[in-house]
Amino acid sequence: MKITVVGAGAVGATCADNIARMELAEELVLLDIREGFAEGKALDICQTSSLSGFDTRVIGVTNDYSKTANSNVVVITSGIPRKPGMTREELIGTNARIVEDVCKNLLKHSPDAIVVVISNPMDTMTYLALKSTGLPKHRIIGMGGILDSSRFKTYLQKELNCSQNDLHAVVIGGHGDTTMIPLTRLATINGTPVSNLLSDEKLKQVAADTMVGGATLTKLLGTSAWYAPGAAGAALVASIIRNQKKVFPCCVYLEGEYGQTDICMGVPVVIGKDGWESIIDYKLNEEEQAAFNKSAEAVRSMNKVLETLVTA
Ligand code: LAC
Repeated sequence: MKITVVGAGAVGATCADNIARMELAEELVLLDIREGFAEGKALDICQTSSLSGFDTRVIGVTNDYSKTANSNVVVITSGIPRKPGMTREELIGTNARIVEDVCKNLLKHSPDAIVVVISNPMDTMTYLALKSTGLPKHRIIGMGGILDSSRFKTYLQKELNCSQNDLHAVVIGGHGDTTMIPLTRLATINGTPVSNLLSDEKLKQVAADTMVGGATLTKLLGTSAWYAPGAAGAALVASIIRNQKKVFPCCVYLEGEYGQTDICMGVPVVIGKDGWESIIDYKLNEEEQAAFNKSAEAVRSMNKVLETLVTA
């Protein structure tokens, strides 16, 4: 197996580090546009090989897509991250051109790859990747919901003083501060609804904290987060490479599911060797469906901005 991660910034390098440690591939290529940068990050990761006990070969390249040839999975993290006070949506102008370009270059050398999109604004970048490449929809997966769900679990854990690993909690909708939907009604600790254990008020607070989870970190760090985004990207790649059939909330192309069409948004999907295999219907209640529709409106208006930006 071979995996490529494009963008050796904090998220890309952390994702690569996780992929290497998990030994998801024999070969892992890290590519960046900055001269020598990916080579440096790859060498640093390689030097943890004997310490962490993995044998993945990690190679760094400066913009040389020929080295990414025949990758099974490609992960796109390229683009600028947000600064404190910025929304993910404000990145669209710069990142759309970069993501479109990266997709074309990658597919030239790995025409059969499954494409994972992490660049922001993620829902729109996933839609752009799909539309600009014309790939079958099952091969394009946006990673946002896995990260948002892990943040949801962290805030639930703080209230419940339990193991995060006993929590099942999912965030669907867009990957934006106002578009994501933490499904508090369906969150459980090993089957016990968390709503039996926490007041409505507390649950609302947990959901609100989850929604601004990324912005909270951006404020603290001065740039966007990387440990959880990188680990979430690697978890998604693992389910593809190992054909685990995990159910993850991912951003995929909807054709009527969850009441939406011609849009990429976060819904629970089964992830396996061919990409996303099917969409699970959580049977949203009226309030949740209304939130999903509102989220779709926001994502759709962001997608419209693409028409003014992308030439190809
Ligand atoms: C975040 C970015 C990666 O939520 O979207 O931290």
